Amino acid sequence: MSDEFRAERACRASRLLLAALGVLVLFTAPANTAEQPLGDITFDRKGGDNTTPTAIFPHWVHRIRFKCYACHPAVFPMKRNSTEITMDAIQDGKFCGVCHNGQVAFQVTFETCNRCHRPR
Ligand code: HEC
Ligand code: HEC
Ligand code: HEC
Repeated sequence: MSDEFRAERACRASRLLLAALGVLVLFTAPANTAEQPLGDITFDRKGGDNTTPTAIFPHWVHRIRFKCYACHPAVFPMKRNSTEITMDAIQDGKFCGVCHNGQVAFQVTFETCNRCHRPR
């Protein structure tokens, strides 16, 4: 067997192994996301009126900027839809309003409603 052939075969074997690993990662990923949500959290509406689509919170966009304890547990419990969030509370500087006040992040104005309340 030539060295070249052997190298070629080893290369093919490692490619197969990599592909198998990739599949493994794909199938184990959902288990992790239950612990640490990477994507968007869509809120259920608990209070207030129904004229606007419910808010979407991009968890990942925030997690790359802040430590978990910037929000958990003081501002939000680590449980999806555990709080009744209203615009009055946000405007009072609670929940999203801790940061979305025009200083740390964009504030609530009629131009920004649909950055949080994305129509879908
Ligand atoms: C920084 C993000 C953010 C912005 C900006 C924002 N909201 Fe909200 N809003 C929320 C969250 C979070 C909730 C709670 C979940 C839900 O009910 O959609 C909420 C709730 C609401 C509710 C239901 C509760 C209530 O207080 O009546 C309405 C109606 C609403 N928003 C309208 C608006 C309008 C109109 C604007 C623009 C003037 C706006 N929101 C801007 C995040 C935001
Ligand atoms: C900028 C604020 C913010 C930061 C930073 C943040 N989170 Fe969250 N997290 C939230 C909000 C808002 C919710 C939804 C709360 C609700 O629906 O009442 C949430 C929900 C969760 C949930 C519950 C998800 C579910 O499906 O029930 C977990 C777990 C969580 N966060 C973990 C983390 C971890 C781990 C970190 C740090 C790596 C982190 N969060 C950083 C705001 C934040
Ligand atoms: C600890 C501070 C903090 C809290 C709390 C927080 N945000 Fe943010 N958020 C930020 C910062 C900083 C940015 C990026 C700067 C900007 O866009 O003004 C941001 C950006 C966003 C964006 C734009 C994301 C993008 O794709 O550009 C949305 C939407 C948003 N936040 C929604 C929310 C909602 C809804 C809540 C409450 C459930 C919330 N945020 C709570 C700090 C915060």
